[in-house]
Amino acid sequence: MHNPKEVAGRRAAEFVESGMRVGLGTGSTVHFTLLRLAERMAEGLKIVGVPTSIDTQNKARALGIPLADLESVEALDLTIDGADEIDGRFDMIKGGGGALLREKVVASITRRQIAIVGADKVVARLGAFPLPVEVVPFALAVIRRALERKGAGVVPRLGKDGNPYVTDNGNRILDCRFPGGIGDPGALEAELDRLPGIVETGLFVGLAHTLVIGHEDGRAEVRHRS
Ligand code: A5P
Repeated sequence: MHNPKEVAGRRAAEFVESGMRVGLGTGSTVHFTLLRLAERMAEGLKIVGVPTSIDTQNKARALGIPLADLESVEALDLTIDGADEIDGRFDMIKGGGGALLREKVVASITRRQIAIVGADKVVARLGAFPLPVEVVPFALAVIRRALERKGAGVVPRLGKDGNPYVTDNGNRILDCRFPGGIGDPGALEAELDRLPGIVETGLFVGLAHTLVIGHEDGRAEVRHRS
């Protein structure tokens, strides 16, 4: 039996070509992409990466992948990133690992966004996975009440040490369950973006172009958004 995350992560690395500026996502699936990229670099591949989190920055540095920041890079050829859920239109919930804000900034300047997931994350309707919402600390109580008024079950995220989880950007995360799931991801994203205090939501709508699904039998299935 194969690890679906490894299957998807390694397959996506094959889309990278020499000379590309590549957005490097965050999480346990991207971990395998980074390993494969390092292997390919040893065989001559030349790229510059832009990491979407401090965690990925550290992993990429340890693997010898050259990095740049957004001061020097205006656009990215390709970004490879995981997802917590993805539907048939390639709309996604992301942010299970807390990196949603930087991931969305990087996606916004990316020509081709590749989502990489194990088959269990492909869903008909988003929302079984709680939606991460990144909030500035000052507004936490305000946003929590506003989300609850919209019918969401809201859980402030805690870190492994039991203290409030703090993002790479110094913010907090509220994990939100919407009963019955999320019928219209674009409308919900727009609605939440209007609340002062929310920095970003984990809804990624219309951003992914290609989906790589890893299967336990070792198959990597590649789908393109129609
Ligand atoms: C990070 O904040 C997330 O958006 C990840 O991309 C997502 O949680 C997927 O993570 P895994 O690859 O670890 O499942």
